[in-house]
Amino acid sequence: MRKLFIIGIGAGDPEQVTVQAIKALNAVDVFFVMDKGGEKDDLVRLRKEICERYIEDRSYRIVEARDPPRPRSETAYAAGIEDWYEARAAIYEQMIGEELGPDGRGGFLVWGDPAFYDSTIRIVERIAARGRVAFDYESIPGISSIQALAARHRTTLHGIGEPLLVTTGRRLAAGLPEGIDNAVVLLDADGAFKAIEDDGIDIYWGAYVGSADEILRAGRLREVKDEIERTRSDARARKGWIMDTYLLRRSGG
Ligand SMILES: C[S@@+](CC[C@H](N)C(=O)[O-])C[C@H]1O[C@@H](n2cnc3c(N)ncnc32)[C@H](O)[C@@H]1O
Repeated sequence: MRKLFIIGIGAGDPEQVTVQAIKALNAVDVFFVMDKGGEKDDLVRLRKEICERYIEDRSYRIVEARDPPRPRSETAYAAGIEDWYEARAAIYEQMIGEELGPDGRGGFLVWGDPAFYDSTIRIVERIAARGRVAFDYESIPGISSIQALAARHRTTLHGIGEPLLVTTGRRLAAGLPEGIDNAVVLLDADGAFKAIEDDGIDIYWGAYVGSADEILRAGRLREVKDEIERTRSDARARKGWIMDTYLLRRSGG
């Protein structure tokens, strides 16, 4: 039977690829890579570098497909996400059927960890449910940008016994929810932290964490938010895209 490996490859530092991920990389015959176009070319290149660095038998292949456009606006999002999943599932399904033999092993290289804000597992489940191509699959955890950020700031993500909220910029727009003192925010294109008017919050921010372009800033949110905003727009202009994450921690007024 065909086997798919959904492999977490860490968030940008090639040294943060796990031994388990390296074993899975070496078991794969064909890697499926979604090319998101433009600014994400750098990330496709990094995936290829990881393959070159860690795979000993050079006979693997990389098959690329253009990612269907994802719905952007709030209204288009609700209506369009189902179609987007379907379109992605159809592309993957076709690639698996055409590129893998009956006992072939396919791989998806997932940024960070496959369990955080990544659609690969959901799409693979969807293809399995359609039942047109038979396969087994496995998820290999990776170092997420969440852990990479905490390590680079040499901090924990929460106080002793406290809960941690992992959320997106879209959901943070209203500020830290009642009773939550620690939140990690991903996928925040607009910088939702700018609108938070709370004097008791610290921020630990990082862009391109783990890569040669890494930028880190930390401090009392109200004191550093303008500088972080300037830094992130300069970085975005310079590089053409930005990938940043931050921890917000309520530590008193
Ligand atoms: C689609 S999510 C994928 C998250 C990924 N699965 C993980 O475990 O980190 C992309 C978001 O992850 C965060 N991210 C991923 N890699 C990062 C990095 N090297 N530095 C800072 N943020 C990163 C950013 O918030 C970005 O918008």
